Amino acid sequence: MLAAAKLARPLSAARLAAPARYLSTSSPRRSDALFVHRDKPYNNPGIPFEFTPENLKHANEVISHYPPQYKKAAVIPLLDLGQRQNKGWTSISVMNYVAKLLEMQPMRVYEVATFYTMFNREPIGENFVQVCTTTPCMLRGSTEILDTVCSHLGGLKPGETTKDGKFTVIEVECQGACSNAPMMVINDDFYEDLTATTTKAILDAFSKGTKPKTGPQSGRHTSENSAGLTALTSKPYGPGEHCVPDFQ
Ligand code: FES
Repeated sequence: MLAAAKLARPLSAARLAAPARYLSTSSPRRSDALFVHRDKPYNNPGIPFEFTPENLKHANEVISHYPPQYKKAAVIPLLDLGQRQNKGWTSISVMNYVAKLLEMQPMRVYEVATFYTMFNREPIGENFVQVCTTTPCMLRGSTEILDTVCSHLGGLKPGETTKDGKFTVIEVECQGACSNAPMMVINDDFYEDLTATTTKAILDAFSKGTKPKTGPQSGRHTSENSAGLTALTSKPYGPGEHCVPDFQ
């Protein structure tokens, strides 16, 4: 009875006057990579994969770092090794092979490979360009850098590969080099303090098969202050310098 009486109570004047509240939602964005595997001619369990003798030796060395009952802890380094051998991407055959080597359920390996974005689940180009667009890089001009990369490579969109298979471009989150923003990663190296001009020069060097200088492109050393030294500018005093003469 009490509940029914409460329900029947008229709305107060204040609540009636309050503006209506709307819920806004954004349309869901599809991930750039599906977490499910679908067999394709270039990616199915029937395609054989195994480590080269050299990589198998390296894999066994990595496995030996763990107690035998925990050898599955080597799954990430082994997937990485498999990806490198498989031209930069982790196929279903790579995952199944690693699962067999580590005596793991294949599903456990799939879970790792789909969780970590370092594992590419589709083929990539010879040079894998990852442009950081997180806030510090964005504030330092990463939008222009991404646009430059895409247009310089013939109008690519992030996630696409050039027709000659030389470059794949993606947009990534912070790579931990914010003090040298904006930056991009190509294969295993960082290219920092980028401008549109230096970005084009780096891509041109890769197109010619050469490797440009890595790190800051502005000329500064690592992440030192670009305005020059502002602290510790005088000669540091040596041992005993402020001691009484007996101790000097
Ligand atoms: S935000 Fe780009 S490296 Fe951190």
